[in-house]
Amino acid sequence: MYDFIVTGGCGFIGSHFIEILLKRGYRVLNIDKMTYVSWSDIGFEKHPNYSFLKEDISDITNLPKCDVLVNFAAESFVDNSIENSGIFFKSNVNGVHNLLEHVRMKAKFDRPLFVQVSTDEVYGDITKGEFTETDPLKPSNPYSATKAAAEQFVYAYNRTYGIDFVMTRCSNNFGRRQYPEKLIPKTIMSALHNRPMTIHGDGSYIRSWIHVIDHCEAILSLIEHKAHNDVYNICSGDEISNLEIVNLVYERMGLKPNIQFVENRWGQDLRYAISMKKIFDKTGWKSRLRLKDTIDDVIKFYKEKYGSNT
Ligand SMILES: NC(=O)c1ccc[n+]([C@@H]2O[C@H](COP(=O)([O-])OP(=O)(O)OC[C@H]3O[C@@H](n4cnc5c(N)ncnc54)[C@H](O)[C@@H]3O)[C@@H](O)[C@H]2O)c1
Repeated sequence: MYDFIVTGGCGFIGSHFIEILLKRGYRVLNIDKMTYVSWSDIGFEKHPNYSFLKEDISDITNLPKCDVLVNFAAESFVDNSIENSGIFFKSNVNGVHNLLEHVRMKAKFDRPLFVQVSTDEVYGDITKGEFTETDPLKPSNPYSATKAAAEQFVYAYNRTYGIDFVMTRCSNNFGRRQYPEKLIPKTIMSALHNRPMTIHGDGSYIRSWIHVIDHCEAILSLIEHKAHNDVYNICSGDEISNLEIVNLVYERMGLKPNIQFVENRWGQDLRYAISMKKIFDKTGWKSRLRLKDTIDDVIKFYKEKYGSNT
């Protein structure tokens, strides 16, 4: 019997979530298929409360007993989904459906709380103001469409079978261990290897950034406050354009920006912005790790792991 099953726990956010759970004394089973983004050397492998199962969530045939299942497992890179969305559908939609099926087949008293980690990208973009949880979903790209589809299955399984859930829609994460296809680590790695950093379009697109540890703590606060059968936005309010954040990384690394503007991403979202009022009202959680205070630590991580040119 586990306290938590975490799926996708060898990826960026899931690995931080597991670290926090182990520090708090929970027993954790991590189910991860180990795609190209996964980390196999994080360090919690030898922890006595940690177990690991290498498996695809869309193929599992048995779900061990646990109190809470937190689903981070997903294909997460928008550009890949624009190239080929088949694997996004399998992992992000079929995978969630398969997990929900395993939960519903358990006796009612044996069912875990189902936590679906979704994204603010399900709303699409907004040029003024911010989305609240009651706004309609209007995803702009195949990745966000699969995340929106998964959400609908969670609602349906709650209504039809009575499965308890918590759903979260978080903004862009940054922090240690993010795969360097994403904007911030890609900029750091380009700078470390003296390669030009490519930016889609003119780089004016606004993203709202939250530290990965803040995101994980927000999810835990919702679980601990029994915020069941509802959806919550999670963000910090740190809005910045893609071009500004790339420039900030170069500045913090003490380097002159080396930027190459390339064709815009198809379906590019202009700005993401979400309200954080609902989670604050429910749990009192608010973001504490600001982008400009913690970006140096992220740079340090990649410098130590992949070498430095300074
Ligand atoms: N990164 C962000 O900014 C962000 C923001 C909001 C929400 N999210 C959501 O958070 C979750 C985690 O994101 P991330 O950035 O850590 O992603 P990631 O790509 O770094 O990690 C995903 C992990 O899931 C695993 N995985 C993928 N498909 C799987 C499958 N079918 N079965 C089992 N394991 C599988 C991978 O091996 C990997 O370890 C995703 O669901 C994503 O949609 C991410």
